[in-house]
Amino acid sequence: MIVLGIETSCDETAAAVVEDGRTIRSNVIASQASLHRRFGGVVPELAARKHVERLLPVLDEALDQASLTLADIEGIAVTHGPGLVGALTVGVAAAKGLALSLDRPLVGVNHLEGHIYASFLTEPDITFPALALIVSGAHTDLVAMRDHGAYQVLGRTRDDAAGEAFDKIARAMGLGYPGGPELDRLGRRGDPRGVPLPLPMADDSLDFSFSGLKTAALLALRKGRPADPSWRADLAASLQHVVAAVLVDKTMAAARSVRPNTVLLAGGVAANSTLRSLMQAACGQRAYRLVIPPPVLCTDNAAMIAAAGYFRLSRRHRDDLSLSAYSDLPVA
Ligand code: KG4
Ligand code: ZN
Repeated sequence: MIVLGIETSCDETAAAVVEDGRTIRSNVIASQASLHRRFGGVVPELAARKHVERLLPVLDEALDQASLTLADIEGIAVTHGPGLVGALTVGVAAAKGLALSLDRPLVGVNHLEGHIYASFLTEPDITFPALALIVSGAHTDLVAMRDHGAYQVLGRTRDDAAGEAFDKIARAMGLGYPGGPELDRLGRRGDPRGVPLPLPMADDSLDFSFSGLKTAALLALRKGRPADPSWRADLAASLQHVVAAVLVDKTMAAARSVRPNTVLLAGGVAANSTLRSLMQAACGQRAYRLVIPPPVLCTDNAAMIAAAGYFRLSRRHRDDLSLSAYSDLPVA
């Protein structure tokens, strides 16, 4: 089944064509980062307007790259939250229009479920139960997955998401937007123990909290040597180290009760090199199978939405034209 995926939840206008939930025929992503950079973060109204301008050319490009026409599309999957509601509305309206005019089934996909399905594009033979850590600019969730579409949220952030903390600290350091990838680059030259920082919420719960770390990093910036390139690299490396350490420790704690066949690392922050290597080491020691998508499938894209949509459509899930631009992760 050929599924067209549409993703407009934040500042990426994306469309993709995926076959049978596993084979990417095209994956087009038009980033708006340069538009929002001068504001230091995403401006919701500008994001929505840019999606209106770019979505149709991006859809054309996705079909061209897949060497297909609209007539070949057998199902339409679209992100319907969480995200910026104005931005989401653009994608949802376009998906409804296509479904209606082509007479094809429509399915709404929760954005977090989409991030999880980037793993199925990476390794097709994932077996359950799976344990997913979803780390993005807006979420930090530990989710047990018993089967396709069956999720249980085990823990999540009580305040900032890990990516949000990275972006805000990077901004205070005068780095570009988005800050996560900038910190990743800078930290490669630094000492991960060079600047002492607290392990954020390193307790027995499976919840996270990153707002205190933001304050600690801002204090370190005030007291440290923010103009010294090697100190800045140490700060970037230390920051990523404490964040990754807590994310990995809590994932391993959750794994003791879930006993997963597979651990999945998902979301934009899964592109982070420190997190990838600490998670690989921890899963390696305990002989857990770990799946981490390539960075381009970790950050927002529509291929993951098409993949998740395919599995929903295969279970006969259909949405109608009343589909809302907002959803929670479906729990079961
Ligand atoms: O999943 P995503 O593309 O969008 C949301 O759903 O939020 O995640 C974006 C987040 C941003 O906070 C960005 O700074 C972070 O992922 N990010 C990274 C890296 N690449 C993206 N954080 C750390 N290291 C990276 N290499
Ligand atoms: Zn995302």
